[in-house]
Amino acid sequence: MSDHLWIPDHAGSTPLPPRRAILVGGIAAAAFAGTAAAQSPENAPTAGPVRPGRGSQLTGKIGVVTGAARGIGRAIAVELAANGADVAAIDICGFVSPASNAAPATPEDLAETIRQVQATGRRALAIQADIRNIEALREAADRVEAELGQINVVVANAAIQRWKPLLEMDDSDWRDVIDNNLNGTANTIRAFAPKMVTRKSGRIIVLSSMQGKHGTKDASSYSASKWGILGLMKSAAIELGPHGITVNALIPGLVDTPLTHYETRYREAIAETQSNPPEHPTPEQVWNARKVQVPLKVGWLRPEDVSPAAVFLASDAAAMVTGAEYEVTGGDSAHNV
Ligand SMILES: NC(=O)c1ccc[n+]([C@@H]2O[C@H](COP(=O)([O-])OP(=O)(O)OC[C@H]3O[C@@H](n4cnc5c(N)ncnc54)[C@H](O)[C@@H]3O)[C@@H](O)[C@H]2O)c1
Repeated sequence: MSDHLWIPDHAGSTPLPPRRAILVGGIAAAAFAGTAAAQSPENAPTAGPVRPGRGSQLTGKIGVVTGAARGIGRAIAVELAANGADVAAIDICGFVSPASNAAPATPEDLAETIRQVQATGRRALAIQADIRNIEALREAADRVEAELGQINVVVANAAIQRWKPLLEMDDSDWRDVIDNNLNGTANTIRAFAPKMVTRKSGRIIVLSSMQGKHGTKDASSYSASKWGILGLMKSAAIELGPHGITVNALIPGLVDTPLTHYETRYREAIAETQSNPPEHPTPEQVWNARKVQVPLKVGWLRPEDVSPAAVFLASDAAAMVTGAEYEVTGGDSAHNV
């Protein structure tokens, strides 16, 4: 067998036809245009032939990440840039709601994300905006296109978390979490997708959670918001697929970020396996309690363990992936459907 690349077509027997070479050049979207050429197996969109780096190359693309001041959002912003994309980093950089257990992010946090993006050699744009405000997001979309260029990738990542038993909740503990996480993610799609529809091309990635795949004791509003995001993602994938836009959910397990790095969260993590968690648990106690049940034997992941999956979902190689859930959990996935 020769060592040059050979890709079977759908029939599995003929060499690579020229149309694939055309589609792989970043204009696969043309196949979605639905204008003169009717769709057929021969001109259908495709992820194209095997070539080195195609799951990680984002050269020339423009990405937008919400909640990018820190944590997973920052890692995704920097990872997109490290793989060739210019990035707009959006964050509220301040107080979100009394129904957020985590300390607020700051303008300095967002500036650090910008610094890290620029350190990769890519352009970066910081935008302070609240995902609950769809008009602010529409303005942000216009600004990104004016200052960076046409948006290819949107990552709806911003969220808050509330730890409170259901029967002890104030109204805000329920409503603010649903409004911020679920409505805010829908706002992000509704504000940015129209630009992608115009061009018949785009990638949308939403952040759900393993807590959106199973119930969570004392975090029902967060869990419900993250289940809701999966329904939103699948519905958006159905509606936007004919416009050449993919919509997928990234599902992290427990990741060490300001969202999870405090005593209440530590106690809840230990309580998953122990009936009497310590009043003031240390990070080491959480790590040890969790790692026994995690197949890859870690207590939690790092943000940069999650971000490579966003790069793949944003890449040309993921052209045929939509309506899907991509879990990065260290192995918690093995215990869940
Ligand atoms: N850390 C984990 O263990 C974990 C696990 C599963 C899923 N997730 C999800 O990953 C995403 C990122 O989480 P993280 O752990 O990095 O959290 P984080 O608290 O470190 O970062 C979240 C960022 O979102 C921003 N934000 C929140 N509400 C906003 C709003 N209304 N407008 C603009 N920005 C807003 C915050 O200011 C903050 O910078 C979230 O969707 C979260 O639900 C996290």
